[in-house]
Amino acid sequence: MKGVILAGGSGTRLRPLTEVTNKNLLPVYDRPMLFYPIGLMVDAGITELLVVTGPERTGDLLRALGDGRRFGLERLYFSVQEKPSGIAHAISMAESFAAGDQVFVILGDNLVFGSDVAGAVQRFHRQTFGAKVFLKAVPDPERFGVAEVRGASVLSIEEKPRDPKSNLAVTGLYLYDHTVFDKIRHLRPSARGELEVTDLNRAYLREGTLHYDVLGGDWIDAGTFESLYAASEMARRYATESVVAAEAAA
Ligand code: TTP
Repeated sequence: MKGVILAGGSGTRLRPLTEVTNKNLLPVYDRPMLFYPIGLMVDAGITELLVVTGPERTGDLLRALGDGRRFGLERLYFSVQEKPSGIAHAISMAESFAAGDQVFVILGDNLVFGSDVAGAVQRFHRQTFGAKVFLKAVPDPERFGVAEVRGASVLSIEEKPRDPKSNLAVTGLYLYDHTVFDKIRHLRPSARGELEVTDLNRAYLREGTLHYDVLGGDWIDAGTFESLYAASEMARRYATESVVAAEAAA
């Protein structure tokens, strides 16, 4: 399985911070934001990773990530998405890198703490086809893409519904089989001119091959000032708890 982290986009909601550097390099507690999804990938067993970025600030990214070995990666690749044409478009940049393998995609501004993502990835690895989305129970589902589920399958996904069918938000972590790139080729741009990841997930849904896992722990999308601040607090809390647990075990 190959890893793909999306770190393009315009980051308009975080201006002027994103006039200084790429959104995905902004500090979250004691490290750049991207270090968290990279850590999650490595913990899940990923050794080859592609980072998709925009044409600006690529030097910052190269400096921060280097050859990837400091994270435990064997190989780290970069791909430039010329325009922020949508998350599904950014995923399409990984086609030759994936070379027929399954892909684990994480949005660079999505942070997960205290959840067994690695276990879910291993279960998907044994599956030969389909896709998996990671859902998180939230108090305010109307702000997110919301999944309605039955048994092991997703029945529907609605974007920011006024009357949500569940409290399960679709997070920015996705697992896809090799058919993902063909599916993206068949997508049409949305009203805002982007290839949408929700439309991609709906293509699997129509096939009856969209599965899910519910994240425990905490999840945050650090794309706004409030959530960026909350992400730092969350990261600090988990870092402190793990130090306390290590001291107790010693
Ligand atoms: P978003 O937060 O949806 O978009 P954005 O980063 O452009 O921010 P804003 O809405 O404030 O302008 O993007 C989620 C993640 O996906 C983010 O880490 C960047 C990445 N992304 C891409 O790599 N390419 C894209 O075309 C888009 C839209 C996002």
